[in-house]
Amino acid sequence: MLPALVLWSQRIDALIWVLEKSNLTFLFKGPWFARRMDALITVDPANIHHILTSNFSNYIKGHEFKEMVDVFGDALFATEAELWKNLRLSSQAILSRQGFQNLSTSVTTSKLKDVLLPMFSRFSEEGTVVDLQDVFRRFMFDISLLLLSGSDPQSLSVEMPEVELAEAFDNAGEAIVSRLIMPRFLWKLQNRLGLGKETKLIEAGATFDRVCAKYIAAKREEIRSQGDIHHVHSDGEESEDILTYYITLDTSKYEYLDPSDDKFLRDTILAIIMAIRDTTSSALTWFFWLLSKYPHVEAKIRQEITKNLPEASQERPWSATDRREFLNKLVYLHAAIYETMRLYPPLPFQQKTSIKSDVLPSGHIVDANSNVIFLVYALGRIRSVWGEDALEFKPERWISETGELRHEPSSKFLVFNSGPRTCSGKHLAMVTIKTIVVEILQHYDINLVKGHHKIKPKAHLNLLMKHGLRVTLTKRCSA
Ligand code: HEM
Repeated sequence: MLPALVLWSQRIDALIWVLEKSNLTFLFKGPWFARRMDALITVDPANIHHILTSNFSNYIKGHEFKEMVDVFGDALFATEAELWKNLRLSSQAILSRQGFQNLSTSVTTSKLKDVLLPMFSRFSEEGTVVDLQDVFRRFMFDISLLLLSGSDPQSLSVEMPEVELAEAFDNAGEAIVSRLIMPRFLWKLQNRLGLGKETKLIEAGATFDRVCAKYIAAKREEIRSQGDIHHVHSDGEESEDILTYYITLDTSKYEYLDPSDDKFLRDTILAIIMAIRDTTSSALTWFFWLLSKYPHVEAKIRQEITKNLPEASQERPWSATDRREFLNKLVYLHAAIYETMRLYPPLPFQQKTSIKSDVLPSGHIVDANSNVIFLVYALGRIRSVWGEDALEFKPERWISETGELRHEPSSKFLVFNSGPRTCSGKHLAMVTIKTIVVEILQHYDINLVKGHHKIKPKAHLNLLMKHGLRVTLTKRCSA
């Protein structure tokens, strides 16, 4: 089945067909010489709920997963047990702090106003064709480093410069995808001999070490020299970045975390960039592509924005409360973003390993120490889960009769994961995506370049577009 798996990563329709025919779960068999590639593949919400919530303690990321992503060290998404609990609680704490939320609002709005919109203005005047996927990935990379360290790598600018840290992430991601479809002994051998994609992974690891060390040293020095670690913006609001938070962490609450250890800070930097950059930019890219295919959805979103824009926004800068209330009213936009991610989930699959043997609600037996894979990309397209219109882009499916956002169980809408390991940044992600979409739609029309490549997903850890999203921009008359 190995060639079939490789083929299926490009022929997802066939995979969905097999899943529907096999009652949403089947056993994937690797070749005889790579039995550890065997995995139970499921998109059955009852199985997903069982594994990720009811019997959570029996399913871990596993040693082999950790080995595959070893270049990221003890990153939050690869850890288990007490270390994971400490990392999760501390990351939730920083995400909910006022200083961090102030920083997040200010970096997103200033990056939009000072960088993205002026760039779009120039591109629209010059009629430049631009790859929106590249723009969003750079935008979110800069945002993630601003949130982490307060300093801006400026990867998004008219010149679109190469940034070694961003490139190292891309190379590492590609090498890890190769590891996923290769027998373990083979990529291990390649790694030892420095061959193939493994060479790029080794180089990426060295770049991670070197660049993170610079950020950590600079931040330690800043904290040492300034004493007062909290920055105050021109608007009088305090702000706090993630590195400052971790370097000055109250370790009495987190006995497994050691802020004096640069390796711990390095792994945290990498995990946060991964969590923020590729997920959010993927959602934005697919969202704007879908809008170009469904102009009536775009029109409805514009109407909703116009209807809810507070009058005061013309006269005075928005307060945080104005902004929050405005974004909360954009229910149809929220629905359209969820609908995008249902069909194009930024993380297209997830994997778990069992500790003890188990029986799933579907009746399938999971042996001890065996792998289970959730194909999130396929799950959003299964008719018995989402209805006969599962393949259609319909934001309306998310709106209840009373006009509110309809709740769907996370075992069905697995985009942000489910159970104790649910994404901690879901709220931040939705606020950021909505803020970016509103600014762009208010000022620009996005026109797809016709006759370019067919839009198709690329096999990667995140759901990327194989040939990017090439567009031109037109300034709107009212802007
Ligand atoms: C559209 C955007 C996003 C999507 C689709 C998304 C999705 C996910 C998923 C599927 C996981 C589980 C990963 C795993 O366990 O293998 C996860 C974990 C996580 N995400 Fe997000 N994420 C998004 C944005 C963000 C943002 C902006 C942050 C902010 C820092 C964030 C922070 C985290 C953290 C801290 C975890 C680890 C949770 C844990 O293991 O306890 N995410 N996310």
